[in-house]
Amino acid sequence: MKSTASAPGKIILFGEHFVVYGSGAILCAIDRRITVTAEETMEKKIHIISEIGSLKAEPGIPACDVDCILRPLYHLADTALRSHGIPGIKVTVKSEIPAGMGLGSSSACCVAGAAAVSGLFSDYSREEILHLAVNAERTIFQDTSGADCTVCTHGGIIRYGGDGHEKIDAGQNLGIIVASSGATHSTKSVVAKVKKFRNANPAEFSGMCDAESDIIRDVKELLEQGDIAQLGKKANQNQRYLEAIGVTNQTLQEMVRIGQGASAGAKITGAGGGGCVFALTDGGPAAADAFREGGYECFAAGIDSDGLIVFN
Ligand code: MEV
Repeated sequence: MKSTASAPGKIILFGEHFVVYGSGAILCAIDRRITVTAEETMEKKIHIISEIGSLKAEPGIPACDVDCILRPLYHLADTALRSHGIPGIKVTVKSEIPAGMGLGSSSACCVAGAAAVSGLFSDYSREEILHLAVNAERTIFQDTSGADCTVCTHGGIIRYGGDGHEKIDAGQNLGIIVASSGATHSTKSVVAKVKKFRNANPAEFSGMCDAESDIIRDVKELLEQGDIAQLGKKANQNQRYLEAIGVTNQTLQEMVRIGQGASAGAKITGAGGGGCVFALTDGGPAAADAFREGGYECFAAGIDSDGLIVFN
């Protein structure tokens, strides 16, 4: 018996980090995917094969003793083995999303992995898969807001907040150019750094959370209106808060300035400390040309409206 599922990567348009503290975020699923296949095996092993590492281990190992990158998949397979009493599971991962770049590779892997593994036994709803995926992600990153797994499950552009999530119907003219710093980051350690900043500067941080909530509210309407110029200004404002909480570095600053000089607005996307920035455009080539001239790889991100796809 085999089961295959696929989930898209993501970018955070607005609200990363502040979403961990309840300010909400606007996220977009992108047209790069991770596909996971799960297979029942007779051998009493959990076997995971991926481009970023492989693992063949006994079931029942404590999660903290499992290689960090593959831990969520091990957790999903091990939990399924215990509930369904089968000997082993083989999990194969194929990815179009670079790892550690803030483009949702970990969350997409958790979502597709949860759907592929649970699909061996039964049909689960998207909300059930999302729940399994967030729990799996928590084995490597306890403080996740759950926003990334939510957009990877549901696709499209969403507003995510404490009250759940809602889809946003954005105008057709939204162009998103994603540029890569080439440096990977650890979301967990950048989030821990922000926590330190917050503890040391509670009033300043709280003021930024309030301002970020206002951005999220305004941006929802601006997306629906397709007002790229105003969205760009909000991206630049959001970027100033990300700079204030210390998640940028010299390379990211240079990239953001290149993006801001050639588009409606630009900012870091995801945890920062490495990874990617994006520029908002109305479809013209100026931002992509400017990033390339600056020596940075970039691509035009298409919006994925499907989210999780289960193939069987
Ligand atoms: C990482 O993609 C987004 C963060 O806001 C963390 C989270 O929301 O879980 C930095």
